[in-house]
Amino acid sequence: MFGLGTLARVTRELRQDLTAAQERDPAARDLGRLEILLTYGGVQALLVHRIAHAAHDTGVPVLPHALAYVGRITTGVEIHPAAQIGDALFIDHGAGVVIGETAEIGDNVTLYQGVTLGGTGFARGKRHPTVDDDVVIGSGAKLLGPIHVGANAKIGANSVVIHDVPPKSTVVGNPGHPVRIEGVRPVGPDADWAHLPDPVADAIRALSARVSELEHQLAEVTGKEPVKPAEVRPLRPRGGDPTGG
Ligand SMILES: CC(C)(COP(=O)(O)OP(=O)(O)OC[C@H]1O[C@@H](n2cnc3c(N)ncnc32)[C@H](O)[C@@H]1OP(=O)(O)O)[C@@H](O)C(=O)NCCC(=O)NCCS
Repeated sequence: MFGLGTLARVTRELRQDLTAAQERDPAARDLGRLEILLTYGGVQALLVHRIAHAAHDTGVPVLPHALAYVGRITTGVEIHPAAQIGDALFIDHGAGVVIGETAEIGDNVTLYQGVTLGGTGFARGKRHPTVDDDVVIGSGAKLLGPIHVGANAKIGANSVVIHDVPPKSTVVGNPGHPVRIEGVRPVGPDADWAHLPDPVADAIRALSARVSELEHQLAEVTGKEPVKPAEVRPLRPRGGDPTGG
């Protein structure tokens, strides 16, 4: 079943996962590797997955899913045994992460808590995301379907991403859309997704103008002072502070 080769591979992967935690979690820099292994749910979930995945590859029945189940109840991270995960993945804080059966993750990827790499339907076959090297996926982000996330992309916390993500881009929001590509804001018509028109505020503003017009006409008829028109502010403030980082 498991040969020495498998053991050596899992040990090498564990070493890289521990290094990833030390390098990418500022709070872990002063911690020893054993301390991280004993206390970091994300690292433990990965170790369990590395063993479950090796068992899955060798065709052992029951064990891969049993291990994945144990991983889920002890760490809150659910990784399907068939999911393909590269070297040095770091799952910070662990809890609530779900990685589906046909998901593929490259090297040096970072996931925060609550990330889902999920499917969108009941069809079989490739139905989960492919994430290239050096991608960072913020807490609570949902990446759904067989989409492709290019290398070095950043996905904002709580984004819902259902389309491919270009390499070296920053994607935020629901639906997820690029706000930076290679460090530059996307340009062109319809490219400024971050500052969409606000149709609800526009409709209320139009109604307010009509009410105001009627009040003026009424004031003329009755001879009373017209009421000052009410201010209508956009429901979504433009600009503002970044929400993550
Ligand atoms: C997406 C992210 C990586 C971008 O970081 P960045 O490269 O420094 O980019 P900026 O902060 O300059 O943000 C770029 C734009 O996206 C917006 N933005 C950033 N994160 C966002 C988010 N999660 N949701 C919606 N909009 C977001 C910013 O407001 C900014 O908009 P602007 O162009 O109108 O100014 C970061 O904001 C993020 O969400 N990181 C996840 C961190 C996380 O999950 N931490 C958990 C720790 S427990």
